[in-house]
Amino acid sequence: MDKNEILAVLNDWNSWRTEQATGVVRDAYLGRLEALLTSNQVITITGPRRAGKSYLMRQMAKKLTEKGVKKENILLVNFEDPRFSTLDAKLMTQIFDVYKEFLSPTGIPYIFFDEVQEVEGWEKWVRMMHELKKAKIVVSGSNAKLLSRELGTLLTGRHLDLTVFPLSFTEFLAFNKITITDNLDIAGKEAEIRGLFRRYMEFGSFPEVVLSEQKREILLKYFEDLLVKDLFKRFSVRKPQVMKSLIKYYLSNVGNLTTFMSTERFLHASADTIEKFAGYFEDVYLVFFVKRFSFKVKEQEKSPRKVYAIDPGLCNSVGFRFSENVGRLAENIVFLALKKRQVLNPELELYYWKDEQHREVDFVLKDGTKTNGLIQVCWNLTDEKTRNRETKSLLKAMDELKIDDAVILTDDYEAIEEHKGRKIIYTALWKWLLLNDGVVL
Ligand SMILES: Nc1ncnc2c1ncn2[C@@H]1O[C@H](COP(=O)(O)OP(=O)(O)OP(=O)(O)O)[C@@H](O)[C@H]1O
Ligand SMILES: [Mg+2]
Repeated sequence: MDKNEILAVLNDWNSWRTEQATGVVRDAYLGRLEALLTSNQVITITGPRRAGKSYLMRQMAKKLTEKGVKKENILLVNFEDPRFSTLDAKLMTQIFDVYKEFLSPTGIPYIFFDEVQEVEGWEKWVRMMHELKKAKIVVSGSNAKLLSRELGTLLTGRHLDLTVFPLSFTEFLAFNKITITDNLDIAGKEAEIRGLFRRYMEFGSFPEVVLSEQKREILLKYFEDLLVKDLFKRFSVRKPQVMKSLIKYYLSNVGNLTTFMSTERFLHASADTIEKFAGYFEDVYLVFFVKRFSFKVKEQEKSPRKVYAIDPGLCNSVGFRFSENVGRLAENIVFLALKKRQVLNPELELYYWKDEQHREVDFVLKDGTKTNGLIQVCWNLTDEKTRNRETKSLLKAMDELKIDDAVILTDDYEAIEEHKGRKIIYTALWKWLLLNDGVVL
């Protein structure tokens, strides 16, 4: 490629002349990314497909210019552009040279490389530039070819990672043009927020799905792409049918306990295969497994795990009858909110709790060495028996783990109950989500 051809491609990806579309601003991620950029490390952006990684990069580039960085000091390249012919480190050098020659950046420029996995040997180039302090570098890539754990090896000790998830409930509201700045907003817009919360549960929160009318079609397409591009191809799967059945099984069993052994029986595949596949699903952020809380590691490993999925919309379009499973979807939503908390606080560990009498609590939160949170999700509080059972389980876990306050998340019931010096706080899930996102309440 000659200089002018390269420049033409670069012009299309950058806002030097014409503004790039950046969509709805995701402030929480931007703030985090901005903070990471002040470190002296390469930043990697990872996360499930279609979560908004590329958009976030563009938003960051724009925000930098709003904060006074000159447009010429930012370079953004997407290596999936078919106009690039030979994708190797030499091309990267060429691109950088053309950029310097024509844009004359001053100081240390910002470089954003999207779909970086397309370039053979990219990591050496990035490491070199980083070591020579020639640029501040942010890279992202598609899961199908570049897993976050591989990034770890390619850039050992030189990078900080930001995982982007589909929208939080607060972001979801913003995408629906509802912004909340104070408690009055919440009071004034409650009916609307509740209505939108139903939609959040039903169709989930992939940005494109949220903004489109063709929600189910897009979700089914995501599922197909995930299967074919991220899983079958990537892992050279010899038993695609088994894998597909297993995903469907997990997506329709969110919030349930599962073991590789028990799945083996109905899938006609060995427990080893199932465990291997389950690992792949985790690699591409499709499903997650939560272990049982125990002080004994062996017991933790031996016990069944609870399975959760990346998006309730995927569960509903692939495996699930929404109306019959609202409670378990609610639990999945709580899981996702806690998972995002982990992005900010890597010390945080999540477990479920269960005792010999089969009493169960959905989430135990452990922060470092401290076990300090218990959350029960309980959708059907009108049923006295269920309610008693859930409360009893929670009190038992509070006793065992020496925790004085715990939370029960509900559809809309709110109260505070005292039980012999212990406190149970009932909160509506939608409110708790706003609180969890750091919105005032
Ligand atoms: N902040 C946003 N505002 C508006 N739309 C968005 C936003 N983020 C994502 N989208 C929509 O979601 C789609 C996927 O976003 P994006 O391409 O950024 O995801 P990605 O994580 O880079 O996906 P992939 O893994 O396929 O590269 C976009 O094409 C756009 O329709
Ligand atoms: Mg992308």
